[in-house]
Amino acid sequence: MKHLLKMMDLSSEEIIEILNLADQLKYEQKHGIPHNHLKGKTLGMIFEKASTRTRVSFETGMYQLGGYPLFLSSNEMQIGRGEPVEDTARVLSRYLDGIMIRTFKQEEVEKLAEYGNIPIINGLTDYCHPCQVLADLLTVREYKNKLDGLNMCYIGDGNNMANSLIVGCLKVGMNVSVACPDGYHPDKTVLDFTKDYSNFTLTNDPKKAAEGADVLFTDVWASMGQESEAEKRRIAFKGYQINDGIMSSAHGDAMVLHCLPAHREEEITAKVFEEHANEIFDEAENRLHAQKAVMVKLMG
Ligand code: CP
Ligand code: NVA
Repeated sequence: MKHLLKMMDLSSEEIIEILNLADQLKYEQKHGIPHNHLKGKTLGMIFEKASTRTRVSFETGMYQLGGYPLFLSSNEMQIGRGEPVEDTARVLSRYLDGIMIRTFKQEEVEKLAEYGNIPIINGLTDYCHPCQVLADLLTVREYKNKLDGLNMCYIGDGNNMANSLIVGCLKVGMNVSVACPDGYHPDKTVLDFTKDYSNFTLTNDPKKAAEGADVLFTDVWASMGQESEAEKRRIAFKGYQINDGIMSSAHGDAMVLHCLPAHREEEITAKVFEEHANEIFDEAENRLHAQKAVMVKLMG
């Protein structure tokens, strides 16, 4: 494993290895055991979009591993004034030991990896959010003690989160049921990937998707960059909400996860959110542990 560009690039074994290492690093951090695996290493963190969790968890994680994180806002870099990503990659490779990037186009992340010669980590694109899904799988495994054979349900936009969750959950042996409105389906490359899996279903009926679910996921109806479509999307996504009605279709002990930020009363009711707040905030914490594992694997 040279980079983390998308879930599709990881084998099932690599996913499990990352989760196991994350468990170990979490234990070490909780027990005050030094784990300076990246002593003297530097991580550049390029942000073209807002972030709370990704920025703070990578920055803190790098510090805890003995390394140094550099926050690089794209609009203060030459890349924000049009310097090609191919050149940015070759320059930053001479200074840094790794780059985490949050941007719009997946191609930009792929190009960084192609032109640079240091590990590249995708911190979210319009296409996918692999770091989040590793943290999500870590959280599900903590609560359920397994992944293989669990029923997962995703309700909402076929966006970056849906794309990564579908691939990640199928790779670790979960049964995946997705409900999206027509016109808002997951990416074609992801739907092509699911063709090899008989345990994947895509429907426009949220209640049906939630039947027997062990874990339910949702995400915002309008992602970063889609602000101008918010009104249109509010209409298209009506009914694609995790609420008591949906929860009554799921297993009695089903978990609910959300990558955050959440829009209460849109994709999830405030009631369901608060009933599952422990799971959701454990999930947010696990960004730290999962990403530390990714950095150690790639840069250690
Ligand atoms: N879930 C997530 O990536 O959060 P941020 O946008 O705050 O980084
Ligand atoms: N789908 C959301 C996820 C945020 C972490 C977005 O892209 O804005």
